[in-house]
Amino acid sequence: MTISRFISELNGITWIEKISLLSFALSKKKEEILIRPNETVTEEKFKFIKTIFEERKNGRPLAYIINSKEFFSEEFFVNESVLIPRPETEILVEEAINIIKDMKGQPNIMDVGTGSGIIGIMIAKHTGINVLCLDISREALRVASKNSERIGVKGKTFFVCSDLLEAIKEKGNFHVIVANLPYVKTKEWEHLMKDVRDYEPKLALLGGEDGLDLYRRLIRVLERVICEKGWFLCEVGGAEQAEVVSEMLIQKGFNVSKIKDYSGTERIIKAQWINSL
Ligand SMILES: C[S@@+](CC[C@H](N)C(=O)[O-])C[C@H]1O[C@@H](n2cnc3c(N)ncnc32)[C@H](O)[C@@H]1O
Repeated sequence: MTISRFISELNGITWIEKISLLSFALSKKKEEILIRPNETVTEEKFKFIKTIFEERKNGRPLAYIINSKEFFSEEFFVNESVLIPRPETEILVEEAINIIKDMKGQPNIMDVGTGSGIIGIMIAKHTGINVLCLDISREALRVASKNSERIGVKGKTFFVCSDLLEAIKEKGNFHVIVANLPYVKTKEWEHLMKDVRDYEPKLALLGGEDGLDLYRRLIRVLERVICEKGWFLCEVGGAEQAEVVSEMLIQKGFNVSKIKDYSGTERIIKAQWINSL
């Protein structure tokens, strides 16, 4: 069977997903798939392609099938141990990079709930500064470590298994702390897309009744590790959560601003610890 027959006959997924799956299965660039539509596919490859097409049709996310997701113009390795990187998280990364580039010397940077490592790794890559990356999931840390090697920042990123900041024993001196912790509310779970519910790790998504259990715990202990005038940046799920997290931070002596994502949803909280209370 030729590539073009495949594309026209296998239905139920988008055209761009078909091209991505073919590119993965045949180990060819997407452009090659497009410019040689009449190339024939071996029987063995044919069976493999049919299997992964079926997986996708049944809801398994494309990123997990091809073990890859683009973020900040880099290809990250992903599997079912980690959340699939979301485009809105790029805003958090950009903000953090801008803050760090304005700092003098070698600031201490921490990424809490690193998952596939996207935030910490991209900060290290674009600033040249070391980043300590924490996650409670050892499987996620294995993925993040693989990505740090892939992106070329192995010596600049350090991965530690920790329940929030528990592994940081000494009183810290961190200048920038970034976090994209789980923030889905318990009652929202049933309404998530099936692809997300059935395949992405619950540990990376669920944040308790109002979605803010993890942020509440983190903000309670932040002052132990953040230095004076240090920054805390995190991602939340909209105006309601942005308001609650901002209020928690203001109570702790932070100056807070909120940043909207590409769809106009309040998504990023950017806070500086003034500690003037
Ligand atoms: C929403 S995912 C974000 C992953 C990644 N930072 C990103 O932006 O794609 C949240 C991450 O927090 C981790 N996590 C959940 N509970 C945690 C805890 N108590 N301490 C540290 N990490 C935790 C999960 O394992 C998951 O990797």
